[in-house]
Amino acid sequence: MIPYGRQTITADDIAAVTAVLRSDFLTQGPAVEAFERKFAERVGARHAVAVNNATAALHLALRVAGVGPGDRVVTSPITFVASANAAAYVGATPDFADIDPVSHTLSPAALAAGWRADTRAVVSVDYAGQAADLPAIAAYARARGAVVIDDACHAVGGSFHSGGRPWSLGGNPWADLTTFSFHPVKTLTTGEGGMLVTDRDDWAALARTLRSHGIVRNTNNFTPASDGCPLLAERGPWFYEMQELGHNYRITDMQCALGLSQLGRLDACLRRRREIVAAYNAAFAGLPWLQTPALRDPADAATTSWHLYTVQIDFAALGKTRTEAMAALRDAGVGSQVLYIPVHLQPWYRRNYGYAQGKCPAAEAFYTRTLSLPLFPAMTDADVDRVVVAVRNLFSPS
Ligand SMILES: Cc1ncc(COP(=O)(O)O)c(C=O)c1O
Repeated sequence: MIPYGRQTITADDIAAVTAVLRSDFLTQGPAVEAFERKFAERVGARHAVAVNNATAALHLALRVAGVGPGDRVVTSPITFVASANAAAYVGATPDFADIDPVSHTLSPAALAAGWRADTRAVVSVDYAGQAADLPAIAAYARARGAVVIDDACHAVGGSFHSGGRPWSLGGNPWADLTTFSFHPVKTLTTGEGGMLVTDRDDWAALARTLRSHGIVRNTNNFTPASDGCPLLAERGPWFYEMQELGHNYRITDMQCALGLSQLGRLDACLRRRREIVAAYNAAFAGLPWLQTPALRDPADAATTSWHLYTVQIDFAALGKTRTEAMAALRDAGVGSQVLYIPVHLQPWYRRNYGYAQGKCPAAEAFYTRTLSLPLFPAMTDADVDRVVVAVRNLFSPS
């Protein structure tokens, strides 16, 4: 069975993790800082803060940006639930604007049409690896005092073109904060893991504090709270203060050693993903009932870090339901997945915010037609051929 996504773990990865297991630090040691430094360099950002998953990174992004009760946070409905849930964690109202039907990312026109005065943040989502239209989103949101958080969980290592040059996700002037996921199906894995990236020194420092219970330790850059409790006046080497209500969102050194090792061959993995996408696109080009993924800018073909290969299928024209098509693929040894059910239609969102079918028609139409096919760097050319044949064989004229 060829799954729709799978991690690639090499002997070097295993050696890197094993070395940490033999070292003094399993967590809060040197591998965390080393991974953060290399990741920040890779994307071209001032700061990278590593956390235990990207859901935590999204939560911290909203917290450091000061988003809370009374605020609205708008995201795309075609995403994993975490992109929206983070808004609810901080007491804000999660809301949704429709997608652009070509790129399947947040539509700047829909964002503008539904804009409300209480919108304080936009969480754009780089679906499947393709960047949202960050320049247009940022121009609109910033002019209205909202921050832009780019959920680049699908796009580790990717970049997009604007003004004739490439810009890295996490290292561009339009996203105020960017989050990445290192879950095993993503383009780089640490098992579970995430990264929050920003150029702002104050936000990065606060994210580091919040990552570890809101505690600040007695180090060189320690600024004690100034409320002057006499019992706490002596500040020796043991001293620490809990200055904020934080979380335990720490990542381990084992995970960061794996991340560092994976980062070293990220470009090779992304090249192989692009090769497979190009092979699929060519093989499926003539099928009238299937639409291959389209890029907003053709130049992005060379720089997109494809996490998913998602096609749109006209199941009526195919003569099969999606359930039947997925079963036929499974019988041919090919896994597939539906990503995603529009988040505004999840029961919790309908129940708590009154969202209903019809709110985001393009996202809902996308949902009826979407199917993600296997894509991971360890796929051989024979695996790719097997998927192509299985997909072509879905159509059998009666
Ligand atoms: C778009 C998107 N955002 C956020 C997340 C949450 O990432 P994590 O599983 O690392 O918490 C995911 C994970 O699948 C995702 O796909």
